[in-house]
Amino acid sequence: MDASSVPVAPLPDLLAWYDRARRTLPWRALPGARMDAWAVLVSEIMLQQTTVATVKGRFSAFLDRFPTPPALAAASMDEVLHAWQGLGYYRRARALKACADALTAEHGGAVPPDLTTLLQLPGLGPYTARAVAAIAFGQPVVPVDANVARVLGRLIGLELPPAGAARQLQAAADTLADPARPDDVAQALMELGALVCTPRAPSCLLCPWQEHCAAFASGQPELYPGRPVKKEREVRFAVAFVLERSDGAILFRRRPDSGILAGMMEIPSTPWQPAPPDEAEIRRAASGEAHWEALPGEVRHLFTHLDLSIRLLRGRLRGTGAGGIWAAPEEFGELALPTLTVKLLRHARVWPGAGSKGSR
Ligand code: ADE
Repeated sequence: MDASSVPVAPLPDLLAWYDRARRTLPWRALPGARMDAWAVLVSEIMLQQTTVATVKGRFSAFLDRFPTPPALAAASMDEVLHAWQGLGYYRRARALKACADALTAEHGGAVPPDLTTLLQLPGLGPYTARAVAAIAFGQPVVPVDANVARVLGRLIGLELPPAGAARQLQAAADTLADPARPDDVAQALMELGALVCTPRAPSCLLCPWQEHCAAFASGQPELYPGRPVKKEREVRFAVAFVLERSDGAILFRRRPDSGILAGMMEIPSTPWQPAPPDEAEIRRAASGEAHWEALPGEVRHLFTHLDLSIRLLRGRLRGTGAGGIWAAPEEFGELALPTLTVKLLRHARVWPGAGSKGSR
């Protein structure tokens, strides 16, 4: 950080705007107060790839369940994944657990206040470490997430995509480091990106930094910073099996410990493959002896890099075969089920309650 460099834009204008426009959010301290560091850390990991609206609905329940790092360290990975349900990008739940384990084993169960130590914790990247240092501990550092990168990228007229200019953006951010209100500077930048300096149609007329902004001066602010070339999602197909036992329980299995949806529960299926599976592939993957009935339609699900189409077969187990994890619909809520599996169970009309009428 070089605090003596000229700020890319004047802080008082930003802070005055923030004082007027700031939203009240469950993880945000009231003006002049500080939030508990663990709460800040949890919120910043949740907010990395999930919208404020979704996090708002889940943050408090998660924190009630795991109010301190030792509380999370004491929980099993299954419990953590279960509590993370609906937030997506489950790798973050594993990162948070790894961080809580390290805090408990090596830091007396507390979040350390200095950036150097925060940066060494497992599960915390440069953004989260800076966000915690600034927001929870008032350190004069400036975190750069996607929103902040857009704000700063526009201010300096960055033509590259932010991913290719991380150092330049962090250097611009560092000029805004402020010992007086570091927590508010960090959140004001995030808030400006979320409310005014939006990706597609920025509301430049409301921006406190309009006259300092290179992108505004260009007349086409939405073209800055540059966008990465979009990679097409790869299309994948599968057939999944809803196998029902005579008592109504459904067969589940656990996904491998690495890769997409690592360690989560799912219903059995063929591998996700580039072409729809043929008869032989389906028979090989079928999870037990049953008379299988093909359900109409398919379930589509998008992951960041995949566009998945899954058709469903439903069957009743013959005999007692098929080992695995059986759960009755009333018990589905206790399993760490990804949204994809919930969609499949809804489509097959075995989801309890409102969802049992089918997905659409
Ligand atoms: N996005 C990332 N961190 C945030 C925060 N603390 N408040 C609002 N949005 C955010």
